[in-house]
Amino acid sequence: MPNRPRVLLAIPWTVLASGLLVLGCRGGDDTGLVAGSGDWEHGVTLPAEPFEEGDPDQGWETLLHEGYMSCGVPWKLWEHEVAGTAAEMMLVGDAETTTIPGRTGRNEDLPHMLNAFDTAEGVEVVNLNCLQCHAGMFNGSLVMGLGNATADFTGNVDAGSGITFSDELLASFDLDEAEIAEFQKLASRGATVLPATQMRTIGHNPAEMLAVTLMLHHDRDTLAWSDEPLIDAVIVDHDGSPIEDPVVTSDPPPWWRVHKKNALFYNGMARGDHRGTMMLATSVCVDTIEEAERVDRFFVDIQAYLRTVRAPAYPFAIDEELAADGAPVFAEHCAGCHGTYSSDESEETYPNLLIPLDVVGTDPVVANAGVVHAPDLVEWYNESFYGSITRFEPVDLESGVVGYMPPPLDGIWATAPFLHNGSVPTLAQLLDSSTRPEFWSRDNYDSDDFDEVAVGWPHSELDTPQSEAAEDDQPHIYDTQYWSQSNAGHTYGDVLTPGQREALLEYLKTL
Ligand code: HEC
Ligand code: HEC
Repeated sequence: MPNRPRVLLAIPWTVLASGLLVLGCRGGDDTGLVAGSGDWEHGVTLPAEPFEEGDPDQGWETLLHEGYMSCGVPWKLWEHEVAGTAAEMMLVGDAETTTIPGRTGRNEDLPHMLNAFDTAEGVEVVNLNCLQCHAGMFNGSLVMGLGNATADFTGNVDAGSGITFSDELLASFDLDEAEIAEFQKLASRGATVLPATQMRTIGHNPAEMLAVTLMLHHDRDTLAWSDEPLIDAVIVDHDGSPIEDPVVTSDPPPWWRVHKKNALFYNGMARGDHRGTMMLATSVCVDTIEEAERVDRFFVDIQAYLRTVRAPAYPFAIDEELAADGAPVFAEHCAGCHGTYSSDESEETYPNLLIPLDVVGTDPVVANAGVVHAPDLVEWYNESFYGSITRFEPVDLESGVVGYMPPPLDGIWATAPFLHNGSVPTLAQLLDSSTRPEFWSRDNYDSDDFDEVAVGWPHSELDTPQSEAAEDDQPHIYDTQYWSQSNAGHTYGDVLTPGQREALLEYLKTL
């Protein structure tokens, strides 16, 4: 179980240290023809846009060695005989970690999700990197760029309830003044950010909530930090009333989609060069435009590296004949939205569509986030330094469409659970909506225990909502009744025969 410890500081550093990104009908047909075929005609094409070219090799180096987080836990504390164990528990908990071949210096032996670097003030620190959410285990190995579907953000992060390290205690660990200040800055930012990012279920990602919080606490024009929220932004419903428990559930997408997508995020709202949103992700310690500009330079190369990430090949046996039967099913029912695939990448196509929400019919919250629920934050973002690099267009300006992008399906078999909110545990269930469980729980978090038949992680369907389960079981339960967690829509597989679905599933393993 990847349960995170209730650390000394009562701060799950995983979230604290990172920050994240974005804020981010029904399926079927009106025509009486085969459901799904033709629905792509409702989609609008999102055009390619220019971005600053960088060096991908340097990007890999930067991603795994540099200080784009700009702050961290003093390296001295990390290395300390006694406090070091606590620092390790705080940063990685008992998450499954490994080292990455090719890393050098202080980073050589660090857990994959940490970077050691020097801050602008010259303090040696260690902090989480993007892989905390963007590298995952599959079949016992770490897969670079695969969304981490087992990160645990459910810990009780009631700010202030934890023991804090006093300056005196830190000094007794031999930390100097600058190091103590570095540590306390991180601790206090964490106490502000964390309560807003607690999730209900292991694997649920707080990226959206984190982004919201980072915007609320930074001055839009100067990026100066404030412990108190600077704008009175509430997450509201269609009628303007506040949403009671606005936890937006997300599922980190694999990085190998980046080179095909002209707009990023599930709802396609991030337009233009993508450095802006990546930087917002790491802005927890940024206090000035100057600092943001310094961090921005790291992302020119990181972005170039992300564009070189490709999906791994399916590691188990594939029934080639069955997969070949699935190819025409895919071409007829799916390719219009998801593109075409080939062993020769130059022959592939990807239409870059934005499908209206009422056409795809999946959970509306993420598509509506910047339109209905928190329009003030889109304005904040677009007017900020970050918005000068990447625009947020929650409503496509050309067409007025609000919806989701059909993602490229490369390596889709590795990315369970499915849909933008991770509400559907297996591909088999995604292709037959009548079988999707309302309440379910993963049987384990063992990446060696992949279900090759249903294509996803072993899970059990439950009879009762999460709130009625024993407290210890609750963090393992996905409850589709919550706001942002519906498993509805995308019924394009429903019209297929069981035989067609089986063949299509086999075909999807070849992507
Ligand atoms: C706390 C977890 C978390 C961290 C840390 C994080 N991300 Fe993400 N990232 C996400 C989630 C969740 C999404 C999906 C958001 C959405 O589309 O609505 C995402 C989306 C993205 C996308 C868009 C992909 C697509 O297909 O549209 C890119 C690119 C990305 N992240 C890069 C990064 C980089 C680079 C870093 C490090 C600087 C980073 N992320 C740090 C969780 C995280
Ligand atoms: C009309 C366009 C359209 C058609 C046709 C369509 N899809 Fe999709 N698909 C989408 C959109 C939009 C999403 C994203 C929905 C979301 O995440 O809320 C999606 C999501 C998915 C996902 C989940 C990806 C993830 O991130 O978890 C899979 C898998 C998928 N589609 C497979 C298929 C297959 C197989 C077919 C053919 C039977 C198909 N789709 C037909 C539009 C379409």
